[in-house]
Amino acid sequence: MKIGDKNYQTIWLDENDPSTVCVIDQQKLPFFFEIKNLRSVDDVFEAIENMTVRGAPLIGAAGAFGIYLATLEITSQTNIREHLSNAARYLISCRPTAVNLSWAVNYTLEKLNSNPSSKSLSETALSAAVEICEKEKEYCKQIGEHGLKLLESLSEKKKGEPVNILTHCNAGWLATIDYGTVTAPVYLAHDKGIPVHVWVDETRPRNQGAKLTAWELGQHGIPHTLIPDNTGGHLMQQKMVDIVLIGSDRTTRGGDVANKIGTYLKALAASDNNVPFYSLFPSTSIDFGIVDGVKEITIEERDPEEVTNISGLADGMIKSVRVCPENTSAVNYGFDITPARLITGLITERGICGATEKEIKEMFSDKFK
Ligand code: MRU
Repeated sequence: MKIGDKNYQTIWLDENDPSTVCVIDQQKLPFFFEIKNLRSVDDVFEAIENMTVRGAPLIGAAGAFGIYLATLEITSQTNIREHLSNAARYLISCRPTAVNLSWAVNYTLEKLNSNPSSKSLSETALSAAVEICEKEKEYCKQIGEHGLKLLESLSEKKKGEPVNILTHCNAGWLATIDYGTVTAPVYLAHDKGIPVHVWVDETRPRNQGAKLTAWELGQHGIPHTLIPDNTGGHLMQQKMVDIVLIGSDRTTRGGDVANKIGTYLKALAASDNNVPFYSLFPSTSIDFGIVDGVKEITIEERDPEEVTNISGLADGMIKSVRVCPENTSAVNYGFDITPARLITGLITERGICGATEKEIKEMFSDKFK
């Protein structure tokens, strides 16, 4: 993605220092655009935990780079197998809901376990991390192509009136490596001259919609309007939403989708108002081992301070202020599950399918055991 006149992806290796992984610091956006350098497994853990990097595909890629940095920590005294599996366990433990993190870390470990003698461990880990990034970028591009068809057909039905899309959280390029999942078809549609407009849920408590999605869409010139999280139902009743597009942190093989807290309520409102509701994600966000999202997906609980406080720009600095009485108890579930029955369709790199085990199996027969 272009920021000013420079092309960025969300994570990359410093070309002058191969022991440094660079990321865009998402804690500072949209107020400051800063790059953060990660030089150790601990740095990567902290960046994922405090959401310097966030979004399912991006935390997966960061985890893979974390294993690469772990290989650089090996000395002649190191028990290599133990060191790498400890690093993997540690990184995976940072955020439990998005399946991409464990998938990418385990993929990189597997590559190391079958390391060809011609390559050093760090070369192998680095090429796995880079391969993951390239694949994720390609998957997002393909998601964009498939999703574009839906937006084109809505635009035809609306005879060129803007297609109103509602989205929650940030499933943009910042959450992936580039292009985004939800944003990929939106950018393509806009670039093709199809009028689109995005309702951006602010997404309390961390406001990924207000801070990140609004910033991204603005950078690309996409018309958008920020709304409080409670507004979507009203907009749908008033026929002001043509389609809901959301991401996924983990989709079961039965089609249940774990995504940012509040997604489920949007799906209920969409179903009540016959508004099509799609989840867009790469296959790396599918957990083929589970069916029932409500019973089987661990929901991350985060610091209650994200609920009792809100952060924003004041006097040129990012500040946090309390929004409730002192010592109010609060709870902060990061994600919820939208059951498959409320989902019109799933859009992955392989195409669009219904949120059912049968259709997912038809599309991903090679991944079903
Ligand atoms: O807690 P976050 O900001 O990492 O949550 C991210 C989301 O819920 C995204 O919508 C999801 O990762 C899909 S992004 C491609």
